[in-house]
Amino acid sequence: MARRLAALALPLVFLLCACAGPAAPAVSAPPATTQAPPATTAPTSETPPATTTATTEAPPTTTSAPPTTTTTGPPAIPVIEQRENGAWYIGNTVIVNKTYGLPPGWADGEDPAALAALDQMIAAAGADGIRLFVVGGGGFRSDEKQTTLYNNYVARSGRAAADTYSARPGHSEHQTGLAFDLNHAASSFEGTPAALWIEAHCAQYGFIVRFPKGKEAFTGFIYEPWHVRYVGQPLAAALTESGLCLEEYYGLTSEYQE
Ligand code: DAL
Ligand code: ZN
Repeated sequence: MARRLAALALPLVFLLCACAGPAAPAVSAPPATTQAPPATTAPTSETPPATTTATTEAPPTTTSAPPTTTTTGPPAIPVIEQRENGAWYIGNTVIVNKTYGLPPGWADGEDPAALAALDQMIAAAGADGIRLFVVGGGGFRSDEKQTTLYNNYVARSGRAAADTYSARPGHSEHQTGLAFDLNHAASSFEGTPAALWIEAHCAQYGFIVRFPKGKEAFTGFIYEPWHVRYVGQPLAAALTESGLCLEEYYGLTSEYQE
């Protein structure tokens, strides 16, 4: 059902995208699958987000209306597709959320381009008098680390609450090596000079604040001003200018199948 709704919403999303002028990768066609979590075992812990916010819930059972036809033939509707490596992509952007999972062991460390961009961003922040640093022992999390983190949060808060701030194994962007938690992974980070700097400048370095405030129903996660995801400069700029989160921009759902 959600897929049908998502499919119906796509034409509208395209229109939104067209207005925002994204360098349109292809949009959508709902996923045929989600992913089952992987392994077990592991070390590490982490400070749980001293969250509060309730949030999340079903993604936008939205709207729609077919595209009012244009003059130039069918629109270039962005398409999400699963590649041979098991991950979901729109263009060259790997998509990971509650709907779209990663296969076990998809990445084994931080992405070099993301790391280089992060270094530049940290240097630029430093020049502005803002000290940025990665927390959590690095941005990358193995399947085992994410499993341990998630399970600890479930034990602490219950599954429903944990699902609002911690991704299930196989569904965390940290497992791609493209995401980093900066400075302080807690709600109290909101509004700090560092958080404001990140929000204002991260797109210049190809990052987005992946779970923006007010977008919880789309992303499926509470506002995380500390969590940045590398998507590259063009998409980061387009997303920022559009005011849309990644799910809205591409017309994607973010919901677990069970
Ligand atoms: N806190 C984010 C949603 C994660 O676990 O990846
Ligand atoms: Zn994070």
